Amino acid sequence: MQLDDLYRRVIMDHYKNPRNRGKFEDGGLTVDLNNPTCGDRISLQLKVEDGIVKDARFTGEGCSISMSSASMMTEAVKGRTFEEAMELAERFSSLMKGEPAEFDDYEDIEALSGVNKFPARIKCATLAWNALKKGINEGS
Ligand code: FES
Ligand code: FES
Repeated sequence: MQLDDLYRRVIMDHYKNPRNRGKFEDGGLTVDLNNPTCGDRISLQLKVEDGIVKDARFTGEGCSISMSSASMMTEAVKGRTFEEAMELAERFSSLMKGEPAEFDDYEDIEALSGVNKFPARIKCATLAWNALKKGINEGS
């Protein structure tokens, strides 16, 4: 897969130095999700207080795209209301459809824009975001 060099570096940085990888000792709103095409999985935990995502953690196995996307998502979602988090997830869906979408609020995410040319990889990149959407729906 060919991605722009800068984009690839951002993705590899999140893959090798994942932000928010792990589990909360005292639990949280937990969502487990599989990528049906490859069997890779993610377990996402959200700490929610007063309708705001205060913190997020993830564990799982998957390719560099899926794990870096999870790292970015958990970082970007912190401090957002459920509504704002859902809006962020919708913007990510637009990015994966090749529609214009900006992430001035967390620029690293734009590194995944090149993924939209590779249908199988879109599923990888979207896994963590689908877990987020599921968590928001279950927690609302
Ligand atoms: Fe290229 Fe998973 S990142 S195959
Ligand atoms: Fe399984 Fe990317 S190949 S999540």
